Amino acid sequence: MALNVLLVGSGGREHALAWKLAQSPLLNALFFAPGNPGMARLGHNVPIEASNMTLLLDIARREHIGLVVVGPEAPLAAGLADACLAAGIPVFGPTAAAARIESSKAFAKTLMISAGIPTAEAHTFDDPTAAAAFARASGRAWVVKADGLAAGKGVVVSETLAETLDAIQALGATLAGRRLLLEERLSGPEISLIALCDGERVLPLIPAQDHKRLRDGDAGPNTGGMGAYAPAPHLDAADVAALSRQVMLPAVQALAATGTPFRGALYAGLMLTEHGARVLEFNARFGDPETQAILPLLEGDLLAALLACAGQAPLQPDMLGWSKGAAACVVLAAEGYPETPHRGDPIEGLELIDDPAVLVFHAGTAWENGQFVTAGGRVLGVTGTGPDLQATLARAYRAVEMIHFRGMQYRRDIGARATRR
Ligand code: AMP
Ligand code: GLY
Repeated sequence: MALNVLLVGSGGREHALAWKLAQSPLLNALFFAPGNPGMARLGHNVPIEASNMTLLLDIARREHIGLVVVGPEAPLAAGLADACLAAGIPVFGPTAAAARIESSKAFAKTLMISAGIPTAEAHTFDDPTAAAAFARASGRAWVVKADGLAAGKGVVVSETLAETLDAIQALGATLAGRRLLLEERLSGPEISLIALCDGERVLPLIPAQDHKRLRDGDAGPNTGGMGAYAPAPHLDAADVAALSRQVMLPAVQALAATGTPFRGALYAGLMLTEHGARVLEFNARFGDPETQAILPLLEGDLLAALLACAGQAPLQPDMLGWSKGAAACVVLAAEGYPETPHRGDPIEGLELIDDPAVLVFHAGTAWENGQFVTAGGRVLGVTGTGPDLQATLARAYRAVEMIHFRGMQYRRDIGARATRR
């Protein structure tokens, strides 16, 4: 089988997926819509936005695409997988109905409660006034969440009742926040657990830890993720198997039972509390930057596994193996990220990186006048691999220090806490 694959998206996650898919013996050619300049070396960038469903289907037909792989959540929530299925094109990624597990936090919460999945207690409100009245009556602070997709800006972890009320007002004024959730605040380390799903079965990947805040020591505003490493030492293989049974499988079974089976990457954002693991959120896709730390350790054919999820072959529990070492991805973000990322700054030093154990994944970059320039919030992800986390981090940071652009922001403490354990 020689397959043409269309990968939808343009971030660091998609570059990592492209890098791994390019190694598959099943592959004929890779197409990216729209892709980024780093991905262009691995296949063909097609200038079609992830939101343009009509043109995506046109290109899929024209290039005889045998599998569409959808990276980001927005096209999934908009029904891209449904459109592919209606056109008879195999797709890795859930239908809009199944992707509601990410696109509606109220839906996800109801599903978790009915399936017995451990999660934080929450209350749902259809209008901000009712949410504010409830918060006032409770006399305490809550985690305030907008129900809908909000590009990482839909959650406020407030410290006081006054902050809770401010967050209710602010999020309640957004489209995503027409419905609000007030959730009990939990504490503990956060782990991302991602499983490949074929609608019935789940195949968990190694656990990863993301670093969501902008600055060292988990200070500064929330971001899409400033770095990640894998495997997260907090969970061993038995823990992952248990979470697979207690969290991933019940979610997939609950979706199948309502006639909306989940085929794709199911991502559980977990908090390891003193009372056990609790799900903070589900995503209907791979994590970014977790994927840039997980895939470099994957031994096995990613394309074969994604095809199985898309119903083209059985999903086997032993399809994927993992190398023994560790991987860590340090995100280099633009000046002004996350509020107002600056664009157009020349990126220097990429050509100096010659360590074969380092991978540089592009995200917000552009190629202009013969050089790479910044073109988005998260610009690059530098992944180091090695026998252990410490060696891995040293490699990643050595490479990071060779790269320069104006106002470059990155965290110096990715994985640091885990090496101290
Ligand atoms: P979410 O998009 O739901 O994962 O929330 C974004 C971030 O907010 C998470 O990564 C956590 O750091 C934080 N968060 C979400 N829910 C809670 C909670 N119930 N308790 C404490 N922190 C939370
Ligand atoms: N890194 C967090 C996410 O992908 O949602």
